[in-house]
Amino acid sequence: MTLQGSHVLLGVGGGIAAYKAAELARGLIKAGATVQVVMTAAATAFVGPATFEGLTGRPVHTGVFEDVHRVLHIRLAREADVAVFAPATTNLLAKFAGGLADDLVSSLYTALTCPIVVAPAMHTEMWLHPATQANVARLRGWGVHVAGPGEGPLAGGDVGPGRMLEPEDLVAAVAAALADGAGGPAAGALAGRRVLVTAGGTREPIDPVRFIGNRSSGKMGYALAAEAVRRGATVDLVSAPTALPPPPGVEVHDVETAMQMRAAVLPLADKADVVVAAAAVADFRPTSYRDQKIKKEAGGLGSVELTQNPDILAELGASPHRAILVGFAAETDLEEERGRDKLHRKGLDLVVINRVDMADAGFNVDTNRALLLTRTGGRREVPLTTKSEMAAVVWDEVEALLAPAPEVGT
Ligand code: C5P
Repeated sequence: MTLQGSHVLLGVGGGIAAYKAAELARGLIKAGATVQVVMTAAATAFVGPATFEGLTGRPVHTGVFEDVHRVLHIRLAREADVAVFAPATTNLLAKFAGGLADDLVSSLYTALTCPIVVAPAMHTEMWLHPATQANVARLRGWGVHVAGPGEGPLAGGDVGPGRMLEPEDLVAAVAAALADGAGGPAAGALAGRRVLVTAGGTREPIDPVRFIGNRSSGKMGYALAAEAVRRGATVDLVSAPTALPPPPGVEVHDVETAMQMRAAVLPLADKADVVVAAAAVADFRPTSYRDQKIKKEAGGLGSVELTQNPDILAELGASPHRAILVGFAAETDLEEERGRDKLHRKGLDLVVINRVDMADAGFNVDTNRALLLTRTGGRREVPLTTKSEMAAVVWDEVEALLAPAPEVGT
């Protein structure tokens, strides 16, 4: 990985680790980058701008009121190929997560469209505070690369998590972020949009202990929700049981059965611009629920009578709706023909057809391959890839189906 020919914006926050940011500037330059340094007022109390000016050969900026006629923060943001904030203090992380723009560094942050790395550095108590953890989770959800912190000696003789990563590790993190491009062009493309994703496999109870379930892990749906957040959407995730942590920045609505999923989905779908149904919804539920555990001594279960569940997606497709509807089809054969049939039968705009008869795709694995068909005749084959990249492809297709985004602020 290299930084050759790239332009790095280095934002220095007001923590004792600011002295290590000088070494970071040197490392970035050694790796082939040009470096523009901006500093918070507090940072200048730890290290003088002259140090950075000497190292980078460029003027260091500290205030929004410098160079006003050339709109400094916008110009610096546009010039950057990648940005790194080191040290990222508790205060800086909070400002970034809250969208505050009350000085040059935070104003600049809100104007960035390039990949971003933050290198948290603070005392352990501040790092572990729920506010800081929530802020970091939020930034991660937007595609920001959070590098560290590491564990080790902190200011004042303390030891613990909160130590800024070493400059050479940060140079590598910046190069990785640049190569990865996350936080880049697609970021924010769904700003102002509301999306609803369903995920997981429903459970249909037989008695308080037993249920009819399926092999869905929820990984595809969770990846879709996380990618929608990264693209700036407001995301509701109606989730049947999974073993996954909730994706940061997503409003999760937990459900268990198909009927509960339907009750959660219908009102949310009314408000959504896009509905992506990635859940594996049971087609049948036990007709009657026994509220006592069925005892095997008493003759056991015998047979379970089943009743058909409503098809939530087909119901949405058949009723008046404004949302783009995306469905999934898990097939073991005849994939294209059945997928196309499902697209029309359920009134979908896009269907993602997965093969579930291959070990590296479909249920419970991290990879997937798919065929995407649109109502307008579009056809796109996606070879084996990760579920997060698959999510990016699905959102690319959805974006193409959406009308131009509403103008913000007019
Ligand atoms: O018909 P099939 O179950 O194969 O359709 C799969 C698609 O329909 C998925 O997108 C799934 O989330 C959705 N579905 C649904 N309600 C059901 C069954 C499936 O919304 N009862």
